[in-house]
Amino acid sequence: MFTALENCLPTEQDAAFFKENGYWVSPVIFSPDELSEIVEHQDKMYHGDYETGREPICNWLEGRDHPRSLRKTDNSHWSDLTLRKVATDPTIGAIAGKLLGAESIRLFHDQLLYKPGRATAKETANVGWHQDYVYWQCCMEPTLVTAWVAFTDVDLSNGCMQVVPRSNQWGLLSVNNFFEQNLEKQRDMMDIPANEKFETVPLVMKAGQVSFHHALTIHGSGPNTTDHARRSMAVHLMSGETRYRSTEKGDGHFNAQMMKGKDGERFQGENWPVLYPAGSVD
Ligand SMILES: [Fe+2]
Repeated sequence: MFTALENCLPTEQDAAFFKENGYWVSPVIFSPDELSEIVEHQDKMYHGDYETGREPICNWLEGRDHPRSLRKTDNSHWSDLTLRKVATDPTIGAIAGKLLGAESIRLFHDQLLYKPGRATAKETANVGWHQDYVYWQCCMEPTLVTAWVAFTDVDLSNGCMQVVPRSNQWGLLSVNNFFEQNLEKQRDMMDIPANEKFETVPLVMKAGQVSFHHALTIHGSGPNTTDHARRSMAVHLMSGETRYRSTEKGDGHFNAQMMKGKDGERFQGENWPVLYPAGSVD
């Protein structure tokens, strides 16, 4: 059985920082050997080479999709066992449990991400400012956190993620769009509380580090101007107490589709594997 790396877990101070600011960055969790295997398996996905024989929910495919676009694959863990190990990593689960103060953590879904290099003015593959919870209205409360696993070193030059500290305390805001390219315009239109400031912090990380942000934390990212792709996985996690609610807007999410008819019930079962406590099963 896999266990969490004790030296990577957040201290009480770290958890307090997360509660206040809505983000936290872990030490290196994945070794260079693990990362090269992960990257190899990421590339297999783009050739439609699915180890388990099961297709992900959506995928970017070589020869079919635009080479300059942001590649986003939902639920790569259905298709590939190496990527599944990342999405269900026990250290990531234990960290999420400590940051959320939750007794158990389940996978909500994963998103494999690839931001191509050499961005031009027209094709930036930016990720607009957004709060993840706006896309998760099928969850009754924002008891979710995203673990963003860097497969390559990330900084502003290759479009690392940027977060807005304290925005996790501002509630759900009106301007939210993952696909918006004009980050400046979006920022000006945002209706933030009077006594708060919109400041951004770039999450500069080494490959193998993992950043965590709360479901209400505003985040986005700029262009990748380097020659190399920015590679990562966003592992969306929820506390084991998270319940499904049926709403017109939220029911478009594939997780809602799998919960149809179960309004008010917790997300449970093999579609949402338990990461923490490690070794738990339904
Ligand atoms: Fe996001």
